[in-house]
Amino acid sequence: MKLDENLSPLQFAGDALWLLDQRALPAEERWLRLERYEEVAAAIRDLTVRGAPAIGCAAAYAIALGARQLARGEAIAMTSVYSELAATRPTAVNLFWALERMRGAVQGPDALLAEARAIQAEDIRACRALGALGAPLLPDGGILTHCNAGALATGGYGTALGVIRAAHGRGRKLHVFADETRPVLQGARLTAFELLRSGIDVTLICDGMAAHLMARGEIRSVIVGADRIAANGDVANKIGTYGVAIAAAAHGLPFFVAAPWSTVDLATPDGTAIPIEERSADEVTDHGGRRLAPVGVKVRNPAFDVTPNRYVSAIVTERGIARASFDASLRAMA
Ligand code: MRU
Repeated sequence: MKLDENLSPLQFAGDALWLLDQRALPAEERWLRLERYEEVAAAIRDLTVRGAPAIGCAAAYAIALGARQLARGEAIAMTSVYSELAATRPTAVNLFWALERMRGAVQGPDALLAEARAIQAEDIRACRALGALGAPLLPDGGILTHCNAGALATGGYGTALGVIRAAHGRGRKLHVFADETRPVLQGARLTAFELLRSGIDVTLICDGMAAHLMARGEIRSVIVGADRIAANGDVANKIGTYGVAIAAAAHGLPFFVAAPWSTVDLATPDGTAIPIEERSADEVTDHGGRRLAPVGVKVRNPAFDVTPNRYVSAIVTERGIARASFDASLRAMA
């Protein structure tokens, strides 16, 4: 298996779902062939596949695989397939959105596989559409992004990086700064990898360097993705995003959020109601198999934070661009 023109991290071929193992990047482009829904659930948990829209796509394919396992006579119940997948990661609403959509689809292995393929194809189309809508928003010059909201985090093409990709395709002179994104380094490993591969000018920085480069005028805007956008426009995204938004506001810089409509959760009124995943301590204490912190130290590892809507300049979706007041603006697009 190879990365296609959309840099899609998941492809269904033959009887199996192929996942680009994002834990191995950038050192190795390793593809895993998964035939069972339990394997996909484990891959979502351990970040083999990650990023809100990609998690939704993977879960949809996992439902199709579960239906195949059932059709082969395995003693499984589809209710457990759904509940095991729903328990993998709590913050990205795309997971629950995709499971609901699969539940409402025509049932049976072939119909469910067709639905999963449709979810991925629609996600790529949504990313391309929001990329085209968002591209004119970006001022020229340095643009900061946090985590990886690129092709690797979606069905393909990317959200925040989709906007950057679209602007780059129109000949705009952008220079991307990628936050390394502690603790799992999605920025250093994945954003840097995919922007280099796409020929887009990118400079890697440590998370703590962003405010300094804003103060120097090197960063002129920020664009990030989202794991869940509440009805009032509060945005859950990778831990550290909130701090970036505050720094952007302190320097008078626009802070843009790019996400497909499947990330918008109008049933969640505001950010306080968004479940925040806590991941294991070793992501913070260890790196590359090496212990960095003393044994016995207490650790916190919230994987996401919530940026209050007052720091958000605009939310770019394939349905249009929402601005304050987000309640009204998002509801109008629903
Ligand atoms: O823990 P991850 O790597 O799944 O977190 C991913 C992010 O926070 C992304 O910014 C978000 O999912 C947007 S992806 C288009």
